[in-house]
Amino acid sequence: MEIYPGAHLIECEIGGRPLRLPLLMGESDTVLVDCGTRSHAAGDIPRYIDKIGLPASRLTFLVITHPDVDHSGGAGELVRRCPHLRVMCGAADRLLIEEPEQLFARRYDHYREEHDIFYDEKTASGIRDGCNGNQPVFLTLKGGETLNLGGKRILEIIHLPGHSHGHLGIYDRDYRTLFYGDAIQGRGYQSLTGGWVLCPTYLYVDAYLQTINCIEHLGAERIVGCHWAVRQGEDEIREFCASSRNFVETADRLIYDYLACHPQGGTLRELCQSLGGKLGEWPAAAHTELSYPFLGHLDRGILQGKLSVDRSVRPVIYRQC
Ligand SMILES: [Fe+2]
Repeated sequence: MEIYPGAHLIECEIGGRPLRLPLLMGESDTVLVDCGTRSHAAGDIPRYIDKIGLPASRLTFLVITHPDVDHSGGAGELVRRCPHLRVMCGAADRLLIEEPEQLFARRYDHYREEHDIFYDEKTASGIRDGCNGNQPVFLTLKGGETLNLGGKRILEIIHLPGHSHGHLGIYDRDYRTLFYGDAIQGRGYQSLTGGWVLCPTYLYVDAYLQTINCIEHLGAERIVGCHWAVRQGEDEIREFCASSRNFVETADRLIYDYLACHPQGGTLRELCQSLGGKLGEWPAAAHTELSYPFLGHLDRGILQGKLSVDRSVRPVIYRQC
């Protein structure tokens, strides 16, 4: 669908959840923001650009907001189909975007060794299948750059870290519209039919809070994420930012309350299982996905001198100082 002149959203699906990929067109160049998995790059995207009559040769830039299978997995497939495509991403995310094996090891399988938390074989192979082989990135960005698509369409690159170190957003100032990828996540992810399916998956708490502030004060009239309904107008944007911030504050409080009541300490899995039901309405089977944000909270607590971790045991145990 076209949300305003020259700005389309390619509506896809990932695991029963919405996935919307922005396609922004100028007179000379077109940028796609995120490419979905390999199957989106082979199906939904070519179908959509065909439908609107955009030749594959006119798709010139792919900006990948962050390394995740549903945002970066299809890059190699899309480059194969669009010979002029230049891939760009945040400087800090380059390795994970270029090399799917690194993405799997450092993002999805990161919790195995110390926390004994990992995906079952079926889920793991689904993640691996969503990615192509290695795909070099043409240019890395740090925020502050502009992208000129011709015909006076100039887009601004914004650094929105927290869900990843290098997470990017694109601001179309003429239309006061921010395309933010997964930079802020409200109370979590909902399915296509509206039920809650997954908690927020930010990793770095302080950066995430700064990103929420940045988006709240950007002066945007419309913010467009990859898995959340478009927020339009000051009130809706402020409310979404507040719900994102509120989740962080509640999660932090619950973690400290739990550890205060358990002087023997707790593992990451125990924290996820005990607190999941207090934080959201996703299915209990998804509580361990809280490993992503909770490890961020625990690491922050250690840095602040408020928590300690016993790494002499497996899984490691966290305690309040
Ligand atoms: Fe995503």
